[in-house]
Parts: sequence; C-alpha cells; structure tokens
Amino acid sequence: MSDFSEWTPELWQSRVATQQPNYPDAEALRRVVAALGSLPPLVTSFEIVALKRQLAEAATGDRFVLQGGDCAESFAECDSGTISNRLKVLLQMSVVLIHGLKLPVVRVGRFAGQYAKPRSTDTETRDGVTLPSYRGDIVNAAEFTAAARVPDPQRLLRGHAHSAMTINFVRALIDGGFADLHHPEYWELGWMQHAPLQQEYRRMVTAISESVRFMETLAGGALGSFSRADFYTSHEALVLHYEAALTRQVPRKPGWFNLSTHFPWIGMRTAQLDGAHVAYCRGISNPIGLKVGPSVTAEQLLPVIDALNPDNEAGRLTLIHRMGVAKVGAALAPLLDAVKREGKSVLWVCDPMHGNTEATSNGYKTRRFENIQGELDQAFDIHAAAGTRLGGVHLELTGENVTECMGGARALTETDLERAYKSNVDPRLNYEQSLELAMLIVRKRGSSR
Ligand code: PEP
Ligand code: CO
Repeated sequence: MSDFSEWTPELWQSRVATQQPNYPDAEALRRVVAALGSLPPLVTSFEIVALKRQLAEAATGDRFVLQGGDCAESFAECDSGTISNRLKVLLQMSVVLIHGLKLPVVRVGRFAGQYAKPRSTDTETRDGVTLPSYRGDIVNAAEFTAAARVPDPQRLLRGHAHSAMTINFVRALIDGGFADLHHPEYWELGWMQHAPLQQEYRRMVTAISESVRFMETLAGGALGSFSRADFYTSHEALVLHYEAALTRQVPRKPGWFNLSTHFPWIGMRTAQLDGAHVAYCRGISNPIGLKVGPSVTAEQLLPVIDALNPDNEAGRLTLIHRMGVAKVGAALAPLLDAVKREGKSVLWVCDPMHGNTEATSNGYKTRRFENIQGELDQAFDIHAAAGTRLGGVHLELTGENVTECMGGARALTETDLERAYKSNVDPRLNYEQSLELAMLIVRKRGSSR
C-alpha cells in the first residue's frame, strides 16, 4: 500500500492551484474555513466505501453508471420542484436502463454540492465593462455587477447549507415517496408521438410496464420504494478550501474522506499532474472521477492515473472521457489501448456533453441532441473494438421543461432556445430529451452486444 502518512487535506496549498477564487479578505476566508471544519458532514464513509465497490463492479460490466444533473446548481433553484423533478428523471432513466441493459444501475447525481465552475477566462467584459467571471454560487453571483462578482467566503457556508438541504430532501424522497416511478403509466411520454422511433419506444415502455406488473404480482403488492436503491452524490472538486474543510478522518477506518460528497471529480481544466487538485484528490479515500479531454495523450494520462490510484485499486478511479462527436473517433482509442496495455484498473464513463458545446447565431450556448447521441454511440463502438468496457454515462440534465439543447423528438431548433433557456452555464438535456437518450442507450447497447 502506498504510504499517505505525510498527506494532509491542506497539502494542496503547496501546489499551484488553478481556477481558485481570488478572495479579497484573507481573514474572512480563514474564519469561514474554520467554521466549515466543525460543521457536520453530508455523507458517510460507509456510503463512500459502498459506492467504490459498485463502481468496481461497473468496471467489470456488472453494473452501469448513470451520473447526471445540472452543469451548476444554483442557490435560487434549491427548491422542492427542481430537486424532485431532477430526481424523478434520473430514477425514470435508471428504470429504462435497468430493464434494457439487464444490469443494476448505479445512480449518481451531479447535485448537493455542484456549485463551483471552472471558467476559461478570469474576467468577463460586457459593453466595455470588465468584471471577474462568475464561478458558481459557492463563489460569487451571476449578476453582472461589480458587487455581485466579488468572491465572498460566506458563500462557502451557504453552499454547505444548500447541499445539506438538497441531500436531506433527496434522501427523504428516496425513502418514502417515489415508489410509483417504477410505472411508466406515471411518466410524461407525450413527446414520443413526435419521434421517428416512436414504435420502438412504445414497445420498450410496454415491456417495462409488463415487467413491473409481473414483479408486483410476484411480490403480492406494489413494489416498494426506492429505499433499497442507492443514490449517490457527486460534484467537481474545484474550490479546494471547501473540499479540504469537509475532509475528515473517521473512527476505525484509515485515511481521509471527503465527506461533502460521495464521488468528487477533477475537471478537465484542473487535471495537471503537479497541480493542487491532483495533490488533494490523491490523498482522499473516496472514489475519484477524472475528466479526460480530446487533447490528452496517453503519455500525459498514465502518470495522472498513477498519481490518483497508485495501488491500482478497483473502483477508485473513473475516467470520464468528453471528446466531442468530431474528435472521439481519433482521440479515444489510443487512450483505451494505453490504459489497457499498462493494466490500469479504471472505470470508463462517457460524458457526451462537454465536447459538443457550440454557440448559435443568436448567442446561445447549446448542444445538439444528435451530437450527444453520436458521441455516445461511437464511444460504445470504440470501446467494443478496443476490448474495453464503457461502464456508464455522465450527463447534464434537468427534470424541467427547458429548451437549452437542440434536437430530440420535438426537434428543438435555434428559435426554440429563446423560449425556456434557464442555465447560467452549460445547456442541459430537458426531461424529454433525457428519457429519450436513456432509450437510445438501451437501443444501442442492445444492438452492439
Ligand atoms: C462540467 O462537468 O461542467 C465541466 C466543466 O466539465 P469539463 O471539466 O469536462 O469541461
Ligand atoms: Co458543464
């Protein structure tokens, strides 16, 4: 076993930390970090260890991972409708996947802490005025005023509180109120009549309904709630003062756990081998995700894998590739080959969102459903050809009826984007597009096995 006895949650401070807020008041920051350090954690080490085991099973093809949620949560949308609709769509998608793939699904939400965003530039200029970029609600506010854009350490405490409220409500919903979501009769499926694949989708839904009824007949009553179905949280481990303050030791287990989330990931912009984010994540015992973009070479990736998973532990490291539909064909295979050749134990997950972002002529950041689906389809094929396994998907989605991504059954176009574009950052699949994508994953996997 690698020796981490010298590691502390503050070790990152001796490395170059990119994408960190520039807090004007160091003393205020110090007080907040001290306060955070004594607040209760949001998850437990037992859950974290259980998730790691499930991710190891996904890597060997015995489970499939569905990871999804907002690009960025906002404090204003920490409300019952947003949280329950997001949970609903994830649960319904998981029912589609479980039925179609004949595998248990590991459900991981991008929520209860997804409040920090990396930005490509430190400042934003509008009409000749330059201000610090919006870095997510845990750092500053999106409004374009000088006051709103100053990083405020109090927001770290608000981030913790909003994460706690979210996870509390999610746990309550999972425990009690969501049993009827097994039944497609309760899903909103009006969109299917607009889909070219309508007949196929309907057959899938009928088959799910019949299976649920069969299970209920066997069980002698309605299926129980999702209480036995685990639900995990994840967010980008970006603002290291926050992550470190929630990193704790627990009784009777060695090492350190980030108890603000089950499954933190390192974003593409902070994945430098000698950087602070890798130095921090290296020392925690959680399963870790690492985003991998199209310009990463095998020579760059392998040392980062070793840094994050020196003992080659199963379930520890998930590589989330996000290449884009135009680049995945050339960029992915060399990485799969190198990781396989070196015998690295990793779980591969595809994020078909972040390589497919584009701007429309009317100024919206969007993604085309066909590109998202196209990258995923190719990813399944490239893995199959390489003899590796695509063990899950990572999506940006919401349960709301937004119009942020184009395409899907209702063939949303540029002009539709104006109608209900709500995201402050990246465009998300809406309820209908999310459910449709789950059905297309089943369709693809069914044909490629
Ligand atoms: C994200 O997941 O929202 C994100 C910023 O991704 P990436 O680091 O892959 O660009
Ligand atoms: Co995003």
